[in-house]
Amino acid sequence: MKIAVARETRDGETRVAMVPELVGKLTDLGYEVLVEPGAGARAEYDDELYAEAGATVTEDLLPDADVVISVNALPGYRARLLRDGAAVISFLPVNSSHDLITDLRDLGITSFAMELVPRISRAQSMDALSSQSLVSGYRCAIVAAGLLRRFFPLNMTAAGTVQAAQVVVLGAGVAGLQAIATSKRLGAVVQAYDVRAAAAEEIRSMGAKSIDLELETLEGSGGYAREMTEDRAARQRELLTPYIANADALITTAAVPGRQAPMLVTAEMVEQMKPGSVVVDLAAESGGNVEGSVAGKVVRIGQAQVWGGDNVPAQMPGPASKLYAQNVVSLLTLMTSEGEFAPDFDDEVVSGSAVTHGGRIVHEPTREAIEGPIAVEPEAEPEPPTGDEQPFDSAQEPFDLPFDSEEQQ
Ligand SMILES: NC(=O)c1ccc[n+]([C@@H]2O[C@H](COP(=O)([O-])OP(=O)(O)OC[C@H]3O[C@@H](n4cnc5c(N)ncnc54)[C@H](O)[C@@H]3O)[C@@H](O)[C@H]2O)c1
Repeated sequence: MKIAVARETRDGETRVAMVPELVGKLTDLGYEVLVEPGAGARAEYDDELYAEAGATVTEDLLPDADVVISVNALPGYRARLLRDGAAVISFLPVNSSHDLITDLRDLGITSFAMELVPRISRAQSMDALSSQSLVSGYRCAIVAAGLLRRFFPLNMTAAGTVQAAQVVVLGAGVAGLQAIATSKRLGAVVQAYDVRAAAAEEIRSMGAKSIDLELETLEGSGGYAREMTEDRAARQRELLTPYIANADALITTAAVPGRQAPMLVTAEMVEQMKPGSVVVDLAAESGGNVEGSVAGKVVRIGQAQVWGGDNVPAQMPGPASKLYAQNVVSLLTLMTSEGEFAPDFDDEVVSGSAVTHGGRIVHEPTREAIEGPIAVEPEAEPEPPTGDEQPFDSAQEPFDLPFDSEEQQ
């Protein structure tokens, strides 16, 4: 069976779905590995490295492939080159990819979305959301330290003492915790806030202070946060204002699955920050946690520089690709039996991450969003009474008497 490693086509993408050092894992599973020329070039993985690892570097690999792996979903014009029944594995944002998913269904392609892999212990090694968030969180802290024109750590020298930078992190999921850990390692004094109750302990375990706003916590399902009401959001912003005004660097990483990023910090709050302070908004490309942040740009608000994240894992393509490739190898290992790609749809990891299969959309929320609710046969209307009916036996049919029994007597 042939696995194709596709060259990415998204603007600014630098990652690749397979790295040379993991090619051997796929050949061990029984696959022949085909790599599109230049697929790894922007992550510093040249074609020769793939060839040395046992892959075949070749153009026009899509029509031959049984499985195609990529970081971003293949665009429709490339998916149409695949054979009926081929499979694709990539990130596939189901809410914003309806046209592509419709194409994949109609082409008979089996597709798996890496962001849908259930976040259960058994599937941790396949969790690409976490692996890429780890990269993003680290990168955010490094960007903040790089933009800030002062030390992160405390320095006590013969020439005097330089105080450590004050860093505030909002949102303490995978990325936020990594931003906290990295800022701490660089010596900053870190405080963090998250709406989930469990986050306070996780923040403290990273050596940071958990900010307690004495607001109700917002737990959603699956360990995620719940959306805030506007009243709650306004109160949270008001209570966070003094912490942000005092910060040298603010890093925001808050998200709610399936929703636009919550607006945590207004431009007015940023305007109260000290001269030279820095804001890093990881959520800029999904609506922004900070009012006025722009994905991929540094803008000035008040006296602060505000950096907006745009495909942040792609800013560290080597490690991001390696972690992603390991996630893909783990998923493929689960889906391979005796050298054959044979996903078992009774396995919750397989069925949970599948989007299309056998000409159908099998991810139900996406199917309903695209195809609408399943039509239910309406129940037959009861015939209107003709007057010839048998007397009603109330012992057998105690409910919904079709007539007033007293009137009949
Ligand atoms: N395999 C696993 O079991 C597994 C793997 C990864 C993550 N998780 C858990 O999933 C959860 C979410 O992780 P994630 O990084 O994907 O989250 P995410 O990217 O969905 O959100 C990032 C963080 O933003 C926070 N947030 C949302 N609204 C906020 C607000 N208004 N103010 C402040 N913070 C806000 C969330 O609580 C979350 O911690 C965590 O509990 C994490 O530990 C579990």
